[in-house]
Amino acid sequence: MSFPLLRMRRLRKREAIRSMVREAHLKRADLIYPLFVCPGNGVKNEIGAMPGCYQMSVDMVVEECKEVAGLGLPAVILFGIPEEKDEEGSHAWKEDGVVQQAISAIKEAVPELVVITDVCLCEYTSHGHCGILGQKEAEDPRDVQVQNDPTLQNLAKAAVSHAKAGADMVAPSDMMDGRVGVIRNALDQNGFTDVPIMSYAVKYASSFYGPFREAAECAPQFGDRRTYQMDPGNAREALREAALDAQEGADILMVKPGMPYLDVIRILRDNFSMPIAAYQVSGEYSMIKAAGKLGWMDSERVALESLLCLKRAGADLILTYFAKEVAPLLP
Ligand code: PBG
Repeated sequence: MSFPLLRMRRLRKREAIRSMVREAHLKRADLIYPLFVCPGNGVKNEIGAMPGCYQMSVDMVVEECKEVAGLGLPAVILFGIPEEKDEEGSHAWKEDGVVQQAISAIKEAVPELVVITDVCLCEYTSHGHCGILGQKEAEDPRDVQVQNDPTLQNLAKAAVSHAKAGADMVAPSDMMDGRVGVIRNALDQNGFTDVPIMSYAVKYASSFYGPFREAAECAPQFGDRRTYQMDPGNAREALREAALDAQEGADILMVKPGMPYLDVIRILRDNFSMPIAAYQVSGEYSMIKAAGKLGWMDSERVALESLLCLKRAGADLILTYFAKEVAPLLP
């Protein structure tokens, strides 16, 4: 046998052939674009650490969504920055809250666009945590922790209010135990049996969310989220989180962040038959953008490669702030 018989290069020589034998593909239909809705009119404020991303009032969000749909992107996910915050985060389920208004305005102007909503309380609570707090005067600050069970009904109220406004899908990101089941029940009881749940099933307590907390104005005012979000050292635990959410009725399982957790996406892909989503989070976007700005990397190519690698790891869907920028480059 002569050595050239074993050449790996033969299939790599021409792009036409390379693309025929490529295992993973990235396309516009895979991408979900996150948007931040704020109060007011005509507001479009760029987010410092996320160039190209904005906090927008409802009217501007609608314009943005027309552009997004025009680019052939299938879906957006909405985050709200409310008029007012309180201890409970009650603006999360307000009938005329910013997100609720945005949902109906988008569905009216761009009906074909899939509108997904993030369901969480941290943007709405004065303390910035994702749920209701325990006793305030506690001597040991650990006793002021988020109370899992009392939080569930409030999350359900938020999810139902989004569905009432016309949301096509809800995505709980709070990481309270049992919330998928409670939200599923509440949706069903209100007649929204066909609204799917994309669960942030495997969400790590990650420093990669830094820029998002500026964008959504939801940094915790004390402590951190390590009592409810996952420990970055754990992968087997992801299987348990995902299994619980699947049992409780989640339709899509999400892993978040994306690139540092490719192994976790793969484990879920190999163990579950449901669609898997990956969230390329704010910090991942900011790093690539910053290096591009400094001339240290070609940010567009790095963005495309990082997204393709999320697909290869097993993600079916990707939430990414790059969606608009890369769409014209994709099938
Ligand atoms: C709300 C939420 C967060 C993100 C999505 N939903 C922040 C957090 O958990 O602190 C992060 C998204 C990103 O960084 O792009 N709970």
